[in-house]
Amino acid sequence: MTRRKLSLILCIAGMAVLAVVGIAQTATNAPAAFATPLDNAQTGAVGNGFSAATFTADMGAFMNEEDIPQGIGPTFNARGCVDCHMQPNVGGSAQVTELRVGHLDGAGNFVNPTIPINDGANSIPNRSLVNDRSICPQAAERVPGAENVRATRSSLNVLGDGFVEAIDSNTLNNIANAQPGQSGGAIAGQFIQVPVAEAGGTVRGGRFGWKNQQASLLSFASDAYINEMGVTNRFAPTDFTTVCKTTTDPEDETGPDGLNDIDRFARFMRATQAPPQDTALAATADAQTGANLFNSIGCNICHVTSITTAPAGTVINGGAFTVPAALGSKVIHPFSDFLLHNVGTGDGIVQNGGQATANKLRTAPLWGLRTRDRLMHDNATFTRNEAILRHGGEATGVINNYQALSTTQKNQLITFLQTL
Ligand code: HEC
Ligand code: HEC
Repeated sequence: MTRRKLSLILCIAGMAVLAVVGIAQTATNAPAAFATPLDNAQTGAVGNGFSAATFTADMGAFMNEEDIPQGIGPTFNARGCVDCHMQPNVGGSAQVTELRVGHLDGAGNFVNPTIPINDGANSIPNRSLVNDRSICPQAAERVPGAENVRATRSSLNVLGDGFVEAIDSNTLNNIANAQPGQSGGAIAGQFIQVPVAEAGGTVRGGRFGWKNQQASLLSFASDAYINEMGVTNRFAPTDFTTVCKTTTDPEDETGPDGLNDIDRFARFMRATQAPPQDTALAATADAQTGANLFNSIGCNICHVTSITTAPAGTVINGGAFTVPAALGSKVIHPFSDFLLHNVGTGDGIVQNGGQATANKLRTAPLWGLRTRDRLMHDNATFTRNEAILRHGGEATGVINNYQALSTTQKNQLITFLQTL
């Protein structure tokens, strides 16, 4: 395809993105700030729990460093959510990566590993995540050589994720359906449905994690509590091993208000504002030209600039959650379509999306990008330019457009990225 033809398609694409995402008349911009509650003044008045007092308490739970009596381990990665979600404030990302491994069967399908522990006397079956820490040496996991599909994954920002949770699944599916037409067939995001733990496994459009492996923040909180910290909870009631275990399950405590820690983690994440843009830099001519280039060369086909959340009162998460006023009909600027793509960087791991997703990753949301120095799913890229050049696969045509820009234009586009 000639560059002019691609540009034309991409221009039409830009218009289509606006049409697909459709900004409802009542929608307003989501408030944006790093780790600030959605509405300080709102002391629980409309019953959605986003008061300053609950926010402070829930943030405290997210920041709490737990120990063995509280349920840490037997295998774990860190002692508190905040250990990996703290840049530039509680709930952000971090330089921390975690490890996943597995192998392929004769038909080329990804298979989860079985990891022997305790000198082979015990093992941890059917789990691609390998924990880097344990409460005793006997429980330490070590990767067998035969598990030769290996990936590191960087910690993700959770600020603003309540808005992401409040996006109607159909909105994501519509973005996916429009992409081939926007890109001459080159780009086709994959929408997957994943089980919601608190709705008994009812499925919903996945949007969280590098593989879109979760659709709800409560499900992710439960998953993170068991997988990152080894704390059993009401949706994940059993540890991966009993080697050195002294506690009884579930280890997640119930507070005087009837809430578990996982409920507090979810409520904290739902009560955060969206990551803010650097408005001073965004007002410069270079950043504005860069923003136009970002859209005109097609970055915005995947890194979607604006999405509107479902209206307040919409029942989501398989019936388990109702979108509160603070999250409903809000325009967010996540710079992601929350869909899976093959951009040539796939890590080979399969989670909830089936074998076709082995080499796909969720479009990295670019909000908060300026707070990160290590980039891409494996944290192995250190400049914005190199992150762009690392894209291949579905993004090849768009990256060719980037390569064809002048040095000045490339710098303007990167200045725009520095505003995010
Ligand atoms: C050892 C580091 C570590 C700890 C501790 C940790 N996380 Fe994470 N978190 C990650 C990584 C890495 C990812 C990306 C995982 C993936 O998709 O493979 C992630 C992703 C997430 C996401 C998805 C964000 C998005 O927008 O897609 C949520 C939500 C989350 N974590 C919540 C929590 C909660 C709640 C806790 C505490 C119970 C926690 N995490 C503890 C490292 C950590
Ligand atoms: C086909 C969809 C697609 C297109 C087009 C695309 N990207 Fe991406 N982008 C992705 C995916 C998927 C990732 C995550 C890849 C990974 O981590 O291995 C990503 C990651 C990134 C990252 C790293 C973010 C981080 O937090 O580590 C940056 C920066 C980025 N893209 C910028 C751009 C720019 C600028 C363009 C246009 C020149 C562009 N992308 C075009 C899908 C796309």
